[in-house]
Formats: sequence, C-alpha cells, structure tokens
Amino acid sequence: MSRLVVVSNRVAPITEGEATAGGLAAGVMDALRHTGGLWFGWSGQTVPDVVPPESLPPGLPPAVARSGPVTLYTTDLTQRDYDDYYRGFANGTLWPILHHQTGLARFDWQEFEGYRRVNAHFARHLADLVAPDDVIWAHDFHLLCLAGALRDLGLQNRIGIFLHTPFAAPSVLMTVPVHAELVRALCQYDLIGFQTEGDRTAFADYACRELGGTALEGGAVSVEGRLVRTGVYPIGVDVDALRAEAVAGAGEPQLAALRSGLAGRALMMSVERLDYSKGLRQRFAAYERFLARHSEWHRRVEYLQIAPPSRTDVEAYQAIRRELEGEAGRINGRFADLDWMPLRYLNRSFPRRALMPLYAAARVGLVTPLRDGMNLVAKEYVAAQDPADPGALVLSQFAGAARELDAALLVNPHDEAGVAAALARALAMPLEERRERHAAMLRVMRHNSLERWRDRFVDDLRALSTGERGAA
Ligand code: F6P
Repeated sequence: MSRLVVVSNRVAPITEGEATAGGLAAGVMDALRHTGGLWFGWSGQTVPDVVPPESLPPGLPPAVARSGPVTLYTTDLTQRDYDDYYRGFANGTLWPILHHQTGLARFDWQEFEGYRRVNAHFARHLADLVAPDDVIWAHDFHLLCLAGALRDLGLQNRIGIFLHTPFAAPSVLMTVPVHAELVRALCQYDLIGFQTEGDRTAFADYACRELGGTALEGGAVSVEGRLVRTGVYPIGVDVDALRAEAVAGAGEPQLAALRSGLAGRALMMSVERLDYSKGLRQRFAAYERFLARHSEWHRRVEYLQIAPPSRTDVEAYQAIRRELEGEAGRINGRFADLDWMPLRYLNRSFPRRALMPLYAAARVGLVTPLRDGMNLVAKEYVAAQDPADPGALVLSQFAGAARELDAALLVNPHDEAGVAAALARALAMPLEERRERHAAMLRVMRHNSLERWRDRFVDDLRALSTGERGAA
C-alpha cells in the first residue's frame, strides 16, 4: 500500500506521554503510530539563515527522529519567515478570522507573502521526500497554500487537508483581502476534511457564491474547472487509552497534592491554551456570577483553570493574558477567605498523562470556547471519567464537540447567567443523571473514534483514482 505522508506546522514530541492536552499534534501522532509513515513539519526553531532544499547535498535530508513506524523530518524557519508566516498571517490574520474575531485580525501583504513563501518552502522539502504514489495528508490553517505549491513543482500525488479549526462564514472570510486566493489555493487539494457539517457548508457556500462553483453529489464541489472532494470527519480520541491513563495516574503525588489542597471540596476544571477564542474571560465572569448567586457553594467548590501561555509574541495574546491575571486576582480578592481560594489559575502546561487523573477527579469539566473546531479537551474529560461515578461536562454550543456531545450541559458562553446556572446544575447533578449523560457521550465517542477519523479520511483520499481527480 502507498505510504502516508503527514504534514503539519508543528510536529509532536516523539516520546510517549509528552503531548499536552488536546490539539492536533497528540491526535496525529496517535493516528500515525497505527498506520506508520512520514511526518514533516517545522522544527520549532528559528535560525538566521535556512539552506534551501535545492542547495542541500544530494540524497534525502536526514531523518530527525524515528519512533517505531513513524519517521519525523523537520525544517527550520528564519526569523523573518516565522514573523511573517506564523506570528503574522497564520496567527494574526487567519486564526482570528476562522474564529470570527474580526476585531482582532490584521492584514499585511508582506505577511501573506511570507505565508506563501513558507508553504512553498515546505513543498520543496516534501518534493524530495515523497514517492509518486504516496498520499499526502496536510493539517490545519497553516498550510492552505501547500497543495498549490506542490502542484507547481509537478507533484501529481493525492493530497488532502484536514482543517482542525472551524471554517469562517463567507461574510467573515471576505474581510481578508486575499480570501479568493486562499480558497482557490485550498481547491488545489483533492480532499478537504472539516470537523462539522457547518464548516463544510461554509466552505461550499463560499466556493459556490464567490467563485461560481457548483456543489455536486456526495460533497464534491466543482470550482473553476477543478473538482475538490469535501467531507466531515470529526476528530476523536482513544477512549480506552485515556481512561487507562486516568486510572494509572490515580496514585501519583500530583493528584495527592491536589486532593489535599481541596480538602473534600468539589473540583471544577478547565484546561486550554491561553487563547482569546477559548472564552476564558467570559468563563471567569460566569464563575464570579455563580459565586455571587450561590453562597451555599462557598468553601465547598474550587475552580482549577490550567492555561499555558500560547503565541506569546502576538499582541492579542499578551492582552488577554494581562486581563485574565487581573480578573483572577480580583475574583479571589472578592471571595477568598483564610481557608479558601475559589479560583486556582495556573499558567503552565501539563503532559497529557498527568492531566487525565486530574480530569477524573474533577466533578465538573468546563469547556466553553467562543468558537472551536472540535475541542479535544471536552472528549478527554469525558474519557477520563469513572463510568460508575462520572463528573458532568458543561460545554459551549459553539465547540465542534457539541455536535456529538449533546448529552453534556450545553451553554452559550456569552450568557453569563446561563453558564452560572449550568455550573450550579452540574455540581448538584444526581448520580443517575450523570451516569446517563456520560454513557450517551461515551457511546458517540466510541463510534467516532480517533481510529475512525484517521481511517475514513485516509481511505477517502486513497480511494480517489487519478481519473477522478483534478479536472471537473
Ligand atoms: O486548533 C488548531 C491548532 O493547530 C491545534 O491543533 C493546536 O493545538 C494549536 O492550534 C497549536 O497552536 P500553536 O502551534 O500555534 O502553538
């Protein structure tokens, strides 16, 4: 069978258990371990000067690392590439737009050029690594222009992309001056995978309305003479492996430390990168409202917020960090007592295996992004629970995960009073109801597993025959 070549901006640390909560890297690594193959991406390093692939000595560039059937190759970026591509267009323009935060988006032609330049740089490296019958699976919003760059180099391989983020509504996407170039570039892929039907429809609507495309049966869209397949592939988690991590970590000193600090209080818990799209500001406000309205829970509950700093050189991220530090201090100042700190706010990351026992200990999991592609933390929280005595999940209706986990307490993160009421309801939820909701969520998660996500996407990509691809 042809080899699977995965491409993403960031590659996961190759050691087991190192991955932090959620995110692309953990899921892709779990998936690749089963199929085997090659994974190419940015090394995470910036250097003064990068040797272009055509100036490297003949032969393949050295494999950076090998873990069982997975071989990792990486490339460095120059500081200018990093600034224009990663900090600039990817995280300063695309990320806020895809998350409908137009007020936080900026646009700069030079940064867009840098984005295209890095996509072309990735393509030149890949061209040296792939064989003609390899299937190439790109991931996420950093690589919208990669397929076009590979086609420019003459590659005829089957190339697909899976978008881990949401796709923006056409009217929002159109605030980016290069919206048409971006979607045209995306149409150079053979298969585009989305997390939800809403995201797929947003793409198809844009392609039909703005580029004069036609939606065909089975999710295909014909755009300017090219046929591109689209599909919905909700990313999943390995339920049994996560539960096993939760159980295995039950004796860890970290958990014992948490429990002793809690002194029998109920734990509410959230984990995410410190990102404005995650709804942290709104969640803190909802918690404050909950504390103000429900004095019966004073001293009986603690909210643990783990939020490792992310993209710290992007201004919007510095602003949200400053704001949350102020809010956390203010909320504790208002409600804390000599023997009680209602909010524990930790700006550090934990490896996934350390988080699972913490999730299992949390009576309530709080996942309330303003907009999110999927949100794997919601699924990890559910997977970690003891089915005999599970915690309750409070989940934003705007996370992709809400499409599947409709047995959670679904909330609108902008509705402070509604979230505060859901917290009270989750904390007081009877065992029978918790069990029923948990079982329903687990059923969906077992069906839409990580394996199924990988297999459906890769099978669909492999199934495209040469004759079916390209020309509409
Ligand atoms: O959600 C999109 C995503 O690529 C995630 O998959 C990943 O966890 C996160 O963004 C990583 O962000 P960064 O690579 O900028 O730290």
